[in-house]
Amino acid sequence: MVTQNNSENFTHVLISSLVAWVPLPADVFLLINGKYVKYRNVGDELEADKINLFLAKDLKTIFVRSADFEKFGELFSRKRQESIEEKVKEVGEPARKVIEKQIELRDKLFDVFSEQELSSANVNMLKSMSKNFLDELTTKPNIAQLVDKLQILGEIAVDHALNVGNIAVFLAMVKGMGDKDFLESLYLASILHDIGKAKIPPNVLENPKSHAYMTAIQDHPTKSASILRKIKGIPDTVFEAVEGHHENFNGRGYPKNLSGDGISIMAKILSVANVYDNILIENKLKPKDEAHKLAIKYVEYDRGKQFDPQILPRIITGLKLAFGNYYK
Ligand SMILES: [Fe+2]
Repeated sequence: MVTQNNSENFTHVLISSLVAWVPLPADVFLLINGKYVKYRNVGDELEADKINLFLAKDLKTIFVRSADFEKFGELFSRKRQESIEEKVKEVGEPARKVIEKQIELRDKLFDVFSEQELSSANVNMLKSMSKNFLDELTTKPNIAQLVDKLQILGEIAVDHALNVGNIAVFLAMVKGMGDKDFLESLYLASILHDIGKAKIPPNVLENPKSHAYMTAIQDHPTKSASILRKIKGIPDTVFEAVEGHHENFNGRGYPKNLSGDGISIMAKILSVANVYDNILIENKLKPKDEAHKLAIKYVEYDRGKQFDPQILPRIITGLKLAFGNYYK
């Protein structure tokens, strides 16, 4: 990294609007202790995971030389046009206007989300955005097929898997992550995270105090990931998130005792969603509001044990506003 002379003029660019895996049209900088430090060179590509990690950690802006700002503007509008054309090709020309509107709304929304504090109004918008995204995603034939695979887990586990998928996508959006490939992979990881449990024999599952049970449980994230590796077309980030869904921020999770940033951001979000829904299940006989409040409290009082404390504040506010009967 090269420290730049601060006499040069810099302008900020929203990280939420950066496009992964596209050569940067100019150098980009981070502002560290009041100094602009070069982060990537012109022509480098930003990894989707890096962009999402920045967003998850509430780093909202990156800097470019003011003279280069226009080049980023051109890139954004070219990419925007490409996503409109891609979508029009998929659903047909008559829908062009609707698609343009949808994409405009999406861009605006993620800009809002990366810049503004959460409020009841924008959390409600996000809830419906995540619902729309999921409605569309789950009608894709390859995703519908994977949802079908879940049936081997039994009805309760299927409900749990789907709920975790819904919560995880909502939480990622709360963090300003609008990249549809990331959201799609997160959804897959979320619905398939416990698929390895289907391989545990019923007699082992019925004896939670046995050694065989403990071993099987410790091993299920690895089993889930290895089942998924055999299915064509699933991205590597999904295996990693599935394998990491019981890793804890403090290193006391399983199966690999990973800690801190050794755990992928996708696994971290999946882990919060998984625990959240498990608490809802434990409290399913209580009124819905009460169950949500207990789940929120659990996440809120974690204090860096299971969850990454850097990603939590916005997630907790999002959960409170969406499900906890809080208003702002
Ligand atoms: Fe699990």
